[in-house]
Amino acid sequence: MYKAPRGTSDILPHEQGYWRYVEEKAALLCQLYGYQRITAPVFEDLGLFTRIVAEGTDIVDKEMYVIRDRSGQKLALSPEGTAPVCRAYLEHGLYNLPQPVRLYYIAPAFRYERPQAGRYRQHHQFGVEALGDADPALDAEVIEMANQFFLSLGLPGFSMQINSIGCRACRPKYIEALKQHYSPYMAHLCPDCKVRFTKNPLRLLDCKNPSCQKVAETAPKSIHYLCNECRTHFESVQEYLTALELPFQVSHRLVRGLDYYTRTVFEIQSQEEGAQSALGGGGRYDDLIEQLGGKPTPSVGFAAGIERIISSLRARKVDVPALPKSHVFIAYVGEEAKLEAMKLASRLRRGQIAVMEATGSKSLKGQMRQANALGTSYTIIVGKAEVQSKTVILRDMKSGEQKSIPSAEVETALKGTESP
Ligand code: HAM
Repeated sequence: MYKAPRGTSDILPHEQGYWRYVEEKAALLCQLYGYQRITAPVFEDLGLFTRIVAEGTDIVDKEMYVIRDRSGQKLALSPEGTAPVCRAYLEHGLYNLPQPVRLYYIAPAFRYERPQAGRYRQHHQFGVEALGDADPALDAEVIEMANQFFLSLGLPGFSMQINSIGCRACRPKYIEALKQHYSPYMAHLCPDCKVRFTKNPLRLLDCKNPSCQKVAETAPKSIHYLCNECRTHFESVQEYLTALELPFQVSHRLVRGLDYYTRTVFEIQSQEEGAQSALGGGGRYDDLIEQLGGKPTPSVGFAAGIERIISSLRARKVDVPALPKSHVFIAYVGEEAKLEAMKLASRLRRGQIAVMEATGSKSLKGQMRQANALGTSYTIIVGKAEVQSKTVILRDMKSGEQKSIPSAEVETALKGTESP
């Protein structure tokens, strides 16, 4: 028996209500803030990620799904959504539009991770990207959007953490200071951090290993090494967030797992403790589009993990609207009645009434059991006698009341009745 690949899962019909709920909240939010949907392919040229997300990050070094197609081209299943959006921005000349260009996506992301609760090899992200403006007000807008998104979902009790990791002018000095701080402790660091020390020193700060955390506690803080421009930018972001009455904490060890960030970074954490508490995160990436061959295009965005959101909704027992069910079930007895039932079902659907039809040669009792299990509001029964008299039996499933009506009057009889 085949199973879904490790770290992936099927989203079954009874779970789809959550997905629709989250996707509708995302779409409504984006409409309120003027973000338009973009859909990129699920795979891209491998170079897009190795160049942009950068080697030295776990996502690129260890977690990418790489495919070589029949022409020999190397492709990767997208591990995240920002680089594809930037590629599309350049490819389609979106820089010719008034800036910033505000886009959003709901898309799968693939990372070869060690599967555990909240960490999958295929997950789905809702992300927004605002491209082409350096204004700190745009950072505040995106952070506010993230905040409003979680509030609108009915997920209280999350925290918003922000930090600034500077730009290419000021960060090298900070990295130097960080390395100086860590070098006497090399022997105490975990094997991953020993690699990070040379490949990606910023990531030393968010290692979960207790002995590494101890070293991180006394590490120098990036905000003390910011150049004037980055400092002013970060101060403005905080002023704007305060003016918007948005609660946040400055977290000196927040650095994020992707390498393209500059200046503002932020993360939304759920109340539950642990490695999978990040519901969403993002930040500025002012150099990314330039690295892809475009003009300097300062940009900012965030993405939230839909599976983690849904598991939080479930854990907190947040009620989501049920998906609409069929309004009517049509049962029949005999071949002749079957044909009439099929024609009636087709007619009702053309009149926008949701109908589920019986199939096969189940007994009427069996068909009624099916109708009960489906929870439809009405069942229509067609038998030989009904075919001859051009009538149907209409049964109200709640009250059990049954009446014979002319087939031509079904629509009128159902008018104003409510779907389950
Ligand atoms: P990220 O923090 O890597 O950022 O992913 C965003 C969110 O996706 C995480 O906060 C988490 O909720 C969810 N997530 C990540 N990996 C997994 C996984 N293996 N299983 C389940 N959920 C996961 C980005 O991807 C950036 N592109 C965000 C961004 C947009 N930055 C700027 N613009």
